[in-house]
Amino acid sequence: MSSENKTLAMHLPPGMKDLEKFQELTLKNWHYSVDNAFNSISHFLKLSNSTIGSLNRMQKENLNTYFPARRTSENVEDTSSRNSSEELKSVTTGVALITGGIGGIGTAVCKRLARDNARIIATYIKFEKENALIWQEERQKEGLQVDLYECDVSDFDACKKMAGVIENEAGRIDVLVNCAGITRDAMLKKLEQENWDAVIDTNLDSVFNVSRNFINGMINRNYGRIINISSVNGQKGQFGQTNYSSAKAGMIGFSRSLAIELADKGITVNCVCPGYVGTSMVEAIPENVKQAIISQIPCGRLATPAEIADAVGFLASRESAYITGTELAINGGLFTG
Ligand code: CAA
Repeated sequence: MSSENKTLAMHLPPGMKDLEKFQELTLKNWHYSVDNAFNSISHFLKLSNSTIGSLNRMQKENLNTYFPARRTSENVEDTSSRNSSEELKSVTTGVALITGGIGGIGTAVCKRLARDNARIIATYIKFEKENALIWQEERQKEGLQVDLYECDVSDFDACKKMAGVIENEAGRIDVLVNCAGITRDAMLKKLEQENWDAVIDTNLDSVFNVSRNFINGMINRNYGRIINISSVNGQKGQFGQTNYSSAKAGMIGFSRSLAIELADKGITVNCVCPGYVGTSMVEAIPENVKQAIISQIPCGRLATPAEIADAVGFLASRESAYITGTELAINGGLFTG
């Protein structure tokens, strides 16, 4: 301060001196206020950015839940680099429901999918209960934990109830194998209406009843594998099987149509068409007729249930994501059309 100003300052009242000091300090430190303001603005911008980021993520998740994205080659998992058997073993994850699971092909499918790490629920019909419990014990001895559910799959309401109970308890069905089926063979001229109805109800209506009641869960989760066990006789027809061939051919039409409806929802729908397999169903064919049939099979033998189950295992896996609406023939060359 100059000597003139010093003199002047001596004459200023005490309050004015404080004021002058304050003015001096303010002029010297004005940039601190600007710095503080800048820091606040930058902090506010960072907060806004992270809030917008969270909102974006939430919006994306909600969109994916309610409007699942179309699957494109960009967003489907590339599994081509998988090669260890351990990784391949874990491809069928989740929960698998196998209707008619305690039958010949059904049992092999349960074993195969259980080996592929899926949780297995097998359905049986009331009159099979005793057998079903013995069957379950046998699986336990083999080290496989399989749950049972009693359901008449030809009854829509029973299937609706089953879907409610299973989705509530298991949370989901990822793989559905429609395997329940019966034969009531007879030439049409001798075929009773009840045997027409029984075969259509059990083999074809069941596919609608079960699929219809589980499909919304699969759509909501944007993932599913539906495998319908059709037959070579649904593809080529067979003497004495107007009922059975109609039902099995119907399964093919159903699967092709549903495959188109669900192709962009991560859900595949396919049929396997077994030929003659070494199960009690084929054993029931009169021996001379059976031998005549086997003599027409180029492979010269019946299929094993495991040979059918292995194909089902592949269609149930994540690797088969691009296969949908098809019929996989497993018939030893009996029909190549
Ligand atoms: N093609 C042409 N003619 C046939 C024939 C055939 N495949 N099978 C039988 N016939 C003829 C017989 O030679 C006989 O002729 P004649 O009257 O001149 O002697 C006539 O038809 C009547 O035959 P049956 O005596 O066998 O007649 P039936 O009424 O006692 O039995 C049948 C008919 C129940 C259809 C019996 O032939 C039969 O069980 N056939 C097997 C049908 C079959 O393949 N079922 C598959 C079950 S397994 C399955 O379905 C699983 C799967 O997905 C593959």
